[in-house]
Amino acid sequence: MKTLHIAIIGTGVIATTKHIPNLIKRDDVEITVLCDVDTEKAQKVKEEFGLNGAVITPDWREAVRSKDVDVVHVCTPNPLHYEITMAAFENGKHVHCEKPIALNYRDAKTMADTAKASHLKFTTGTQWRYNPAPMRMKQMVKDGVFGDIFYIKSQQLRPRRLPAYGVYTSKELNGGGVLMDGGPHSIDLPMWLTDNYEVDSVRGVTFDKMKNFPEGNDLGPWDPKHFDVEDTAMAMITMKNGMLIYMETAWASNLIQPAMGVVAEICGNKAGADMVGPGFENHVRLTRVENGKLTTTTEKIDEQVDMNAYDINHWIDAIQNDGDPAVLPEQAVTVVRVVEAIYKSAATGETVHF
Ligand SMILES: NC(=O)c1ccc[n+]([C@@H]2O[C@H](COP(=O)([O-])OP(=O)(O)OC[C@H]3O[C@@H](n4cnc5c(N)ncnc54)[C@H](O)[C@@H]3O)[C@@H](O)[C@H]2O)c1
Repeated sequence: MKTLHIAIIGTGVIATTKHIPNLIKRDDVEITVLCDVDTEKAQKVKEEFGLNGAVITPDWREAVRSKDVDVVHVCTPNPLHYEITMAAFENGKHVHCEKPIALNYRDAKTMADTAKASHLKFTTGTQWRYNPAPMRMKQMVKDGVFGDIFYIKSQQLRPRRLPAYGVYTSKELNGGGVLMDGGPHSIDLPMWLTDNYEVDSVRGVTFDKMKNFPEGNDLGPWDPKHFDVEDTAMAMITMKNGMLIYMETAWASNLIQPAMGVVAEICGNKAGADMVGPGFENHVRLTRVENGKLTTTTEKIDEQVDMNAYDINHWIDAIQNDGDPAVLPEQAVTVVRVVEAIYKSAATGETVHF
């Protein structure tokens, strides 16, 4: 098997918690370039992970052009995703680009179309689907446990976990707020569970009601003066087959929901299921009528799945074996299209039809 040479562009939180730790566990990859405008940060990352062979550069153009790179991982803030990814494709590199892959549908589609035309692999990081509970729920969907599924709710209401680091609260530098951050996960999960990315229409609302309440945030206080994005977003997404997805995502909620992560509820005419906390990621509660009586059972799934490792391993395997990555480019494109539609609907008060 070929050793894949990888460039990491952006050596911040997601690069150092998901990408690098899982890449270095494999013996068929080598991180050859670490790129960050903050080269001191990149140097620290190099030392922390013992990436002795990695060259450091502040210039992503140099990184994507490097002859010593086969694969580019784009872990920069969102507004850079499109340009870096397209430049990487032009230079014949496969790309794992963090979510959301782009700020708008047009760019996202261009990226996916370019990858396909260039026979290059392309994926993104909506890894919350790979927790044990959603994986079990997806199997139940396949087994027909729920019957005709007509409603799914997905939710990520973080009690007080606004990413106060980096550029998350700047529209200019991040492209948007929580809808660009938690939104892609909450949009992808219900679609992936039902293998249904056929959207009919979107009605969305966004709020910035928490912007002036920075106290008590897990990740430190933010500066309300530098906060021009939404902190909460909700949407009703109607699918072409009539199924409704209700999606909620928030950075700083006054509700203690089961999870920091993304949870889902599925409701069909034969049964319904949700992920219950604590331990939401590996508990599925199933409700249905058995022997004429409504019955609820909670199953703990013992199988261990590390969603971050799953994301990275499937990606590298897809390149090595010329297969499909776990998150397909067209799925990532639909997610961006829905994000865009939620912003549009929130701004106009109208339903956006696809
Ligand atoms: N999949 C997930 O669950 C998940 C979780 C967190 C973040 N993300 C995504 O990952 C991306 C980065 O988020 P983060 O939390 O790691 O942010 P971060 O601020 O911790 O890291 C971003 C890094 O990019 C660097 N950077 C900025 N401009 C650059 C440029 N022009 N060239 C090179 N480097 C540049 C910054 O210096 C910083 O080190 C975002 O798109 C975010 O949506 C995904």
